[in-house]
Amino acid sequence: MTQTFQNTAVLVTGGASGIGRAIALAFAAAGAKTVVADQNAEGAAETVSQIEASGGQGISVVVDITDANAIADLVKTAAHAFGRLDVAVNNAGVLGTPAPLHDTDNAMFDQVLSVNLRGLFLCMKYEIHQMLKQGGGSIVNVASLAGLVGFSGFAPYAASKHAVLGLTKTAALEYAKSNIRVNAVCPSIIETPMTAASHIPPQLVEKYLNAHPMRRAGRPEEVASAVLWLASDGASFVNGTALTVDGGAFAQ
Ligand SMILES: NC(=O)c1ccc[n+]([C@@H]2O[C@H](COP(=O)([O-])OP(=O)(O)OC[C@H]3O[C@@H](n4cnc5c(N)ncnc54)[C@H](O)[C@@H]3O)[C@@H](O)[C@H]2O)c1
Repeated sequence: MTQTFQNTAVLVTGGASGIGRAIALAFAAAGAKTVVADQNAEGAAETVSQIEASGGQGISVVVDITDANAIADLVKTAAHAFGRLDVAVNNAGVLGTPAPLHDTDNAMFDQVLSVNLRGLFLCMKYEIHQMLKQGGGSIVNVASLAGLVGFSGFAPYAASKHAVLGLTKTAALEYAKSNIRVNAVCPSIIETPMTAASHIPPQLVEKYLNAHPMRRAGRPEEVASAVLWLASDGASFVNGTALTVDGGAFAQ
């Protein structure tokens, strides 16, 4: 089934890079009017340039998702720009620095939780305010396979992504009767700046990929197509799910 998002207003956080950019481009290619939100102004503007170059419509908003007032304003801006907010994809996130739990820096723990959990919570909160006002919508959170299983060397990240699934499932229950579906995707290793050698030691990536059934990393576009399906009417009875996009890794 071809997914069409004609006349649909979509917000993507973390849309300046990697998976978020692929999601924003995929929605725009399917006809959506897309708000690209990120703290990286240049990257967000580049994503919008790419949307416009292929004939789509988008705006960029510079925002730090840990700032509650900025998120409230972001949702207002999105709703004002395109009349409503049909779909919100909460994708912005950070990995943190690899360390075993007993050597994990306390400030780093707080920072990862502040972006991946509290920041995502704030986004959901204000998006849901808008969706309740307009009578419905669809939210897709970008969690991780590390939301379902442990992720050796990245305890704060794994903790934050497990918690994202808790928020996803609870919101799915709370707003099912309000015509708002809330789902999550759980990608394994995807080729983006986050998994580049500067962030994860190459030998660790190699270890994960060797244990991966498909023996390869995923591509951002492969996550984007799962997100578009979850957001689409084709998934109208799918709510509160954590969809793995992992080449079979979770099946082991
Ligand atoms: N790459 C992977 O292997 C992988 C696997 C599973 C899940 N994920 C998740 O996918 C999402 C996107 O990751 P990616 O790989 O594309 O990473 P990325 O680093 O390429 O992109 C993350 C984006 O989030 C933005 N961001 C970070 N903190 C922010 C903040 N406080 N406010 C606003 N924007 C902020 C960054 O500026 C960046 O543009 C993340 O939530 C990540 O945890 C990634």
